Amino acid sequence: MVQPYKHEPFTDFEQQEHKKAFEDALKQVKEQLGQHHDLLINGERVRTDDTITSTNPANTKQVVGTISKANQELAEKAVQSASDAFEDWRKWDPRARAEILFRAASKIRRRKHEFSSYLVYEVGKPWKEADADTAEAIDFLEYYGRQMIELKEGKAIESRPGEENRYVYQPIGVTVVIPPWNLALAIMAGTTVAPLVAGNTVVMKPASNSAVIAAKFVEVLEESGLPKGVLNFVPGSGGEVGDYLVDHPKTALISFTGSRDVGLRIMERASVRQPGQNHLKQVIAEMGGKDTVVVDKEADIDTAVDAIVVSAFGFSGQKCSSGSRAVVHEDVYDEVLEKVKAATEKLTVGNASEENVYMGPVVDQGAYDKIMSYMEIGKEEGRLVTGGKGDDSKGYFINPTIFADLDPNSRMQQEEIFGPVVCFTKAKDFDEAIDIANNTEYGLTGAVISDNRAHLEKAKYDFHVGNLYFNRNCTGAIVGYQPFGGFKMSGTDSKAGGPDYIALHMQAKTISEKF
Ligand code: NAD
Ligand code: ALA
Repeated sequence: MVQPYKHEPFTDFEQQEHKKAFEDALKQVKEQLGQHHDLLINGERVRTDDTITSTNPANTKQVVGTISKANQELAEKAVQSASDAFEDWRKWDPRARAEILFRAASKIRRRKHEFSSYLVYEVGKPWKEADADTAEAIDFLEYYGRQMIELKEGKAIESRPGEENRYVYQPIGVTVVIPPWNLALAIMAGTTVAPLVAGNTVVMKPASNSAVIAAKFVEVLEESGLPKGVLNFVPGSGGEVGDYLVDHPKTALISFTGSRDVGLRIMERASVRQPGQNHLKQVIAEMGGKDTVVVDKEADIDTAVDAIVVSAFGFSGQKCSSGSRAVVHEDVYDEVLEKVKAATEKLTVGNASEENVYMGPVVDQGAYDKIMSYMEIGKEEGRLVTGGKGDDSKGYFINPTIFADLDPNSRMQQEEIFGPVVCFTKAKDFDEAIDIANNTEYGLTGAVISDNRAHLEKAKYDFHVGNLYFNRNCTGAIVGYQPFGGFKMSGTDSKAGGPDYIALHMQAKTISEKF
């Protein structure tokens, strides 16, 4: 009997024993850095001359690992391998597939701080964020395994006398999984195991910035009993390998999480029928966000301040869910801004592999340059309240930054910056605040801080986001508790970690027999 699902608890680093255990894990992982990781195709390790070098964004001289890099020829082999393995894997008892996920969850739980330490080194996560990322990966394994067991017999439909009707779910085929680097373990793991447990085979192309973590996760799935060919691992260039996998006529489903532009490109390419292709490709695409914390005039100000700071600066604002906009009622605007400034100036920034800081670096030079260019735009469009400075001499560090008095249509309030920057805009009343919150092309998360019940009820209908939070921050959805996915240009609203997610990786079949 499988135990009911419960989400993985977070580690309390205030307790000395946990702090010490994490420091020990960081030391142990430091000893392992620099190792090489190969591709996995049809159960075989494949080494290439061309490699990706993954470095610590907090200390760019520190090599986290090197990873073999696939080209189109190897991507082709990976798709063929997944296609061959599908014939057997699709007929496995779903429960046996789920048990592989449960075994993998146990293994990662036992090595939790080790995985979190890799997240600290490879993408610069502070301890708390790394711990949450690992916990979420465990949750996806536990939750999707249970979801598949529930779907095993299909869903109830009606039958008339003399007939039996059944409604069952069957896997679709070769699934290309393309995750981002930011929830480097959780999203990569969740988007990989959902199609697998549903009976599809997978070709996974990780993000280059987090390919070592992906390689470590693939090892765990192998150790947990995944047969050869069922999961193929092909790190490589998005343009070269990504496009090739998306275009491949044997690709049946693409599960992408990343930026709006790459998501749109994938949707467009996937709609083109390739020679030899006799099916429509299905696409799950979860994309960017420009998420708003709305503060009403009747609101607990401390709750508002905490919500804005946590939403904006957790993992240096590098979450699709990050609250990069604060829209505040004019009656409390100055007070909220002043208190957010004071709280922001207390945040610590540094190298999380050396100390337990609130914020680490941003992920790479490209991200650093892009965010720093927005500092100049912000100064032209609004008022710099605090921050605005960066230092990329050792790692890619940027101070948490606040801009105030921005026009709702300014670039700062419209474009995804994906860094530690929050932009304030004043609203004359609650209706205007919701209008401003809705005035971007995105619709991923949002928060409303209000003690006015009528306003919260209005927001339920009028605030057009996939994940809406009241009187709290707009980040940190928990698998099985807050299914996650966005509206509008934020994506296909697949609701990862929700009750409908596994079915998106399957096709429903009606079987009707007359007696
Ligand atoms: P990205 O779009 O640059 O890359 C995502 C993945 O796509 C990577 O694996 C990359 O190698 C691959 N890729 C790049 N070009 C490709 C191509 N032509 N064909 C196929 N694959 C290609 O995004 P990123 O920088 O890794 O992640 C940050 C973005 O992801 C932000 O916009 C963020 O909001 C979004 N994101 C969304 C969610 C969500 O659930 N909505 C979650 C996390 C991140
Ligand atoms: N699911 C992640 C969050 O809610 C992105 O912050």
